[in-house]
Amino acid sequence: MEKREEILDEENINQMESGTDEMVEAAEMEERKIDDGVIIKFDNVKKVFGSDFAALEDISLEIQEGEFVSIVGASGAGKSTFLKLIYAEEMPTGGEVYFEGKPLSGISRRKLPFHRRRIGTVFQDFKLLPKKTAFENVAYAMEVSGAPTDEIMEDVPQILDIVGLSDKMEKYPHELSGGEQQKVVMARALIHKPIVIIADEPTGNLDPVASLEIVKLLLKINKLGTTVILASHDREVVNKAAKRVIVLERGRVVCDDARGKYKMC
Ligand SMILES: Nc1ncnc2c1ncn2[C@@H]1O[C@H](COP(=O)(O)OP(=O)(O)OP(=O)(O)O)[C@@H](O)[C@H]1O
Ligand SMILES: [Mg+2]
Repeated sequence: MEKREEILDEENINQMESGTDEMVEAAEMEERKIDDGVIIKFDNVKKVFGSDFAALEDISLEIQEGEFVSIVGASGAGKSTFLKLIYAEEMPTGGEVYFEGKPLSGISRRKLPFHRRRIGTVFQDFKLLPKKTAFENVAYAMEVSGAPTDEIMEDVPQILDIVGLSDKMEKYPHELSGGEQQKVVMARALIHKPIVIIADEPTGNLDPVASLEIVKLLLKINKLGTTVILASHDREVVNKAAKRVIVLERGRVVCDDARGKYKMC
């Protein structure tokens, strides 16, 4: 998590230091056309850690814009690695990952923050700033990226409303349940209007009722047009989603069902 926060800080610094070149870059990325509707493509991707251990191997698949995809598999199967490749937190050791038609291996350090802003991230070990309210936690993420106050005042209540926390905006994290805290994290993930949400075990620390609320929220976000990629161990959560399920087993795709259920092939 710390590593991820460092990445976020780095993004913010990069963004603050950025000039008009980067603004043009961002606008270009926003406008990029996805001709065939494919937003993410894995082409024969391999990820080896260390000398010879393949965390992912022979991964070739496409994810369409607006899809909801669940990635399931036993611990160590490669789910988080799969998501990290999309976020360009890791790079493949073989093959290529394409995002909106562009190979991520070619992405420059300068463009990386813009790529990452296209993706909202939600993780199991959600961390909110404990001395800030729900509103302030979401607002803070906008402040550091240089959003003007009027935009913050307009967007934050709207986003908190989407996640169903309109009445809890002034609560501090310790006054919120785990599920509510995770909803704040989801609100925070939505502030840059990402085109993809990647959620890695977002219900891992929640009870079944709160977990179902989170999956319902992911479905709602998906319905509003965002592509959702959910890695989960949780059978109930994946079955509730009732969307495409990709099963990983020791780094390989062993099953890819359009309207899947949680099952091991
Ligand atoms: N940075 C790393 N260095 C070395 N090995 C790694 C690294 N990251 C992941 N691995 C290994 O790659 C394999 C896949 O890990 P990954 O985290 O993707 O699994 P996972 O399916 O997300 O598991 P879990 O359900 O436990 O979160 C594991 O064997 C893991 O130990
Ligand atoms: Mg994992």
